[in-house]
Amino acid sequence: MGAFLLFVCLLAPLVLACAIRGRRRRAAAPASCSGKALPLPPGSMGWPYVGETFQLYSSKNPNVFFARKQNRYGPIFKTHILGCPCVMVSSPEAARFVLVTQAHLFKPTFPASKERMLGPQAIFFQQGDYHAHLRRLVSRAFSPEAIRASVPAIESIALRSLRSWDGQLVNTFQEMKLYALNVALLSIFGEEEMRYIEELKQCYLTLEKGYNSMPVNLPGTLFHKAMKARKRLGDIVAHIIAARRERQRGSDLLASFLDDREALTDAQIADNVIGVIFAARDTTASVLTWMVKFLGDHPSVLKAVIDEQEEIARSKGSSDEPLTWADTRRMRMTSRVIQETMRVASILSFTFREAVEDVEYQGYLIPKGWKVLPLFRNIHHSPDHFPCPDKFDPSRFEVAPKPNTFMPFGNGTHSCPGNELAKLEMLVLFHHLVTKYRWSTSKSESGVQFGPFALPLNGLPMTFTHKDD
Ligand code: HEM
Ligand SMILES: *[C@@H]1O[C@H](CO)[C@@H](O)[C@H](O)[C@H]1NC(C)=O
Repeated sequence: MGAFLLFVCLLAPLVLACAIRGRRRRAAAPASCSGKALPLPPGSMGWPYVGETFQLYSSKNPNVFFARKQNRYGPIFKTHILGCPCVMVSSPEAARFVLVTQAHLFKPTFPASKERMLGPQAIFFQQGDYHAHLRRLVSRAFSPEAIRASVPAIESIALRSLRSWDGQLVNTFQEMKLYALNVALLSIFGEEEMRYIEELKQCYLTLEKGYNSMPVNLPGTLFHKAMKARKRLGDIVAHIIAARRERQRGSDLLASFLDDREALTDAQIADNVIGVIFAARDTTASVLTWMVKFLGDHPSVLKAVIDEQEEIARSKGSSDEPLTWADTRRMRMTSRVIQETMRVASILSFTFREAVEDVEYQGYLIPKGWKVLPLFRNIHHSPDHFPCPDKFDPSRFEVAPKPNTFMPFGNGTHSCPGNELAKLEMLVLFHHLVTKYRWSTSKSESGVQFGPFALPLNGLPMTFTHKDD
């Protein structure tokens, strides 16, 4: 079921496009500079079009499929998923080649319907000068210098979330999604745009419901509703921009977009604002949900985190003195828990690229137009770099991991510009969660689902109780 969801959500639309294009272009006669033919990477392609989709589907857990392949063929292998010829890479060196040193040869690739829904001018889909321009604006808005002042505002969002869960059975993932959405909106719009924010949230939620639906744009379908909400979102962002142009600027993402000599159009800004919300929300919420689970399952680790956070709480003058950026820099144990959670859970199991020309890698040919998938999860679970890889053990991060063996935020030109903000909001929430609340996970709750990110089963239903009660 999980793999099926992954397939429907992520692979199917991409792959259908592939099957159609693939008909026109058979794998070109491979040739290197010397004129000598290069072999394709090893691997089996299965039946044309259907390829190995069935094995991926029937392996229940897509990660098992990838791991099995890697054991058989090594760190670079080819496969065929519904007409889509793919090269999967799962060594640090190969990931570095694709994402960092030869990034210009591999462009990001998404299904057209997703591009249309998020906004075709959003950062993920770009390459070259426009991408570099956007990246400068996004990176400066989420740099440590820019986000350090927002610690108190993030803290009040965290406290508000925790109070709303107190004593009730909640779906941890859904609650974490709300928290991550509120922090994302704060970092994009600052604290002043409140009058538009409620409607913006509602439209965003409608958009999200349609995101994984069949891309059929007929009245009544989820996809149609999502496209309508998408248009309304563009209008709301345009209103916010107009209001903002009249006033002083802040230090949020919108300010970064507006305070720019090569001005972006309103449509470009809207596409990127919506894109950032999308990139920020399920990712951060999934990691937070896994943290709750892993800490619940490892009482000695939880105790070490509580000790660290209580020490920080004690060092403050009074119990309601706000947290500072400097406090968050002292949360070393909690930071290692975040790292180990991201390694074990590897919520983004892989990413997609497409070769823009025939590329040679270590004597193999990667033909133009083939998809290339760096498999983050396989790299993070390699026993060569992480002994007993399935064991949750934050102490392994007392030593910094080797380059390109641990890439929860990717690497290179498209790596995550929101990584400092993501870590900050996780630290702030866990400071209050572990010092003020208790929760317990039980064996019956173990299990993983994919939707499309790996997640504890059913989003981890949980009761958080205030320690004073
Ligand atoms: C723990 C939470 C997060 C994880 C694990 C994560 C992971 C990633 C990864 C792996 C990529 C690169 C994908 C690729 O190379 O194909 C990425 C890109 C991106 N992320 Fe994050 N992310 C997280 C949170 C955030 C947050 C909070 C924001 C914004 C505030 C954000 C904004 C972005 C953007 C805009 C991109 C696209 C960058 C580009 O294409 O140049 N992410 N993220
Ligand atoms: C990204 O790649 C560069 C160049 O290989 C490397 O120095 C750096 O450590 C890598 N980053 C991560 C997170 O592995």
